[in-house]
Amino acid sequence: MKFITVLGARPQFIKAAPVSRELRKRHEELIIHTGQHYDKNMSDIFFDELHIPKPDYHLGIGSSSHGKQTGEMLSQIEEILLNEGPDYVLVYGDTNSTLAGSLSAAKLHIPVVHVEAGLRSFNKKMPEEINRIMTDHVSDYLFCPTDTAVQNLTNESITDHVYNIGDVMYDAVEYNRKLAEDKSDVLNVHGLTSKEYYLITVHRAENTDVKENIEEILNAFKEIPEPKVWPIHPRTRHVIEKLGLNLDEIPNLHVIEPVGYLDMLTLESHAIKVLTDSGGVQKEAYFMKVPCVTMREQTEWVETLESDANILVGTDKEKILNAVKKDVYPEYKTIFGDGDASSKIVATFE
Ligand code: UD1
Ligand code: UDP
Repeated sequence: MKFITVLGARPQFIKAAPVSRELRKRHEELIIHTGQHYDKNMSDIFFDELHIPKPDYHLGIGSSSHGKQTGEMLSQIEEILLNEGPDYVLVYGDTNSTLAGSLSAAKLHIPVVHVEAGLRSFNKKMPEEINRIMTDHVSDYLFCPTDTAVQNLTNESITDHVYNIGDVMYDAVEYNRKLAEDKSDVLNVHGLTSKEYYLITVHRAENTDVKENIEEILNAFKEIPEPKVWPIHPRTRHVIEKLGLNLDEIPNLHVIEPVGYLDMLTLESHAIKVLTDSGGVQKEAYFMKVPCVTMREQTEWVETLESDANILVGTDKEKILNAVKKDVYPEYKTIFGDGDASSKIVATFE
């Protein structure tokens, strides 16, 4: 079978790495990179480090408004699909690249395979929620990471070719955990000591695009005296610069460029806690039994909330600080599969 995979943003490279490796054992795969993420440390670094095959098509779309970005992707992807005539189009997650890939294929009657289907925050103000709902409703094969995701699809009357195969991000962590321990020198490079620092990531539109929210988050960080390391997403760096907010007022803060995946796994596993609004980082913290504080009002990964392994705090300064101080002892339950989600996906197409 001939698959065309459409990718564009950092978490999709990480999800695609294990799936691509399995898929190519039995099928032909071509990769379209939309260019949604383009900085070296938001894109190329993952292809190199995770040995993801080089994209066959690079659209170079870059950043713009939702409509313009998605529209330009649609137009170029359609042309490639018409020329290549794949049997399936494979998309991951919930970004604008996901929506463009799934919609272009569905309109051409090419079966759509959605990996990480069925997630819902039930907040349609999030661009990701629109992308997920639209993609799930035009998909022909829906690979869910959890029972909750299957149930969400059932509630929307999507029941055909729905599979709970576990989470491909768990596959990625299992495959790379040991490599990260062996290869990453990130703690030394930044003068960090295991279990003596907090790891921060922030990039969600609802946090970065509302001045009061990003200010409140920074005000909370000012009151955490311990070392904090923050590989900053370019979106957030731009917002902080534009608003003239001063990160120097935050004590013991190491703001660093976005890091590669092996460095990120290392930073996560050695942190006291993780403070994030990322979907992927919440789960990775859970996989590694590192407590997480999630600066969002909802999470799609509701399983992680059990026993306060992950605490939802929104952007309220006091809630953030209380969650940071709270003693919690997360356990990992195998609700995200056994690390073989990728081979289960591929086995479906035998
Ligand atoms: C996108 C996804 C989000 C996902 C995130 C992963 C959508 C709507 N959002 O958000 O679901 O969680 O990726 O990281 O698809 N920028 C750079 N260099 C880059 C990439 C981005 O400078 O390589 C800056 C640009 O100023 C750009 C901004 O970041 O305008 C936002 O990028 P964009 O891809 O639109 O959204 P993300 O916030 O990255
Ligand atoms: N990540 C990374 N380097 C970083 C920040 C994140 O490798 O500097 C990885 C992280 O380990 C996870 C994924 O990127 O696998 C999460 O992506 P992101 O937070 O950008 O998006 P989301 O998961 O929220 O869609």
